[in-house]
Amino acid sequence: MEKIQKLIEEHVGFLIVFTLIVISVAGLVEIVPLAFQKSTTEPVAGVKPYTALQLAGRDIYIREGCYNCHSQMIRPFRSETERYGHYSVAGESVYDHPFQWGSKRTGPDLARVGGRYSDEWQRVHLMNPRDVVPESIMPAFPWLARNLADAASVPKKMEALRKVGVPYTDKDIAGATAEVEGKSEMDALIAYLQGLGLALKNAR
Ligand code: HEC
Repeated sequence: MEKIQKLIEEHVGFLIVFTLIVISVAGLVEIVPLAFQKSTTEPVAGVKPYTALQLAGRDIYIREGCYNCHSQMIRPFRSETERYGHYSVAGESVYDHPFQWGSKRTGPDLARVGGRYSDEWQRVHLMNPRDVVPESIMPAFPWLARNLADAASVPKKMEALRKVGVPYTDKDIAGATAEVEGKSEMDALIAYLQGLGLALKNAR
């Protein structure tokens, strides 16, 4: 035993290798169970896969970089739960690929913004935030109302998501293009925002 200790302490190469082994084992012990735990792999009751329109909206959220100013992760602190509602749990994000938790909060957290305002408020706010929140520093996104959402690509996205475990049916996929066709990017984004965090909205 003493020999081994001496070896490790006197040869920095061994020290590095053994340190890495210890950290890897400790890391795996923490990380691997997460992939099998029900609380992180199964959806919370009431969490449904995004509709075709919401899915199109989610991609616009990502394209426009909303995550650069908005997190979707309510931390379990009183200061957060009083303001935003029930803290976020992993089972709410099982259909999110990739998740939008984020950490940058120039604006408020959006994890439970669904239903907080009317569709009309969201529309006015996205056209020009200053019209409803005079002191707002959020940029305006008026082109979203002019552009049509990309309906043709939604079925392919749903098929890809199905491969990673989102339970879309053939019927969902077959109807996706028709659901999104003719809707503006603004409609899609609002549909996405209005669905955020509803499952635990009234939980305490
Ligand atoms: C430069 C930072 C910035 C970007 C980018 C940004 N926002 Fe905001 N957002 C804010 C700020 C600051 C507020 C708070 C003031 C206000 O309500 O306008 C806010 C507020 C909001 C609110 C109201 C939240 C609440 O609980 O009152 C929503 C919804 C929202 N943003 C959605 C979006 C969406 C969708 C995008 C992308 C298209 C986006 N934001 C991009 C900064 C940003």
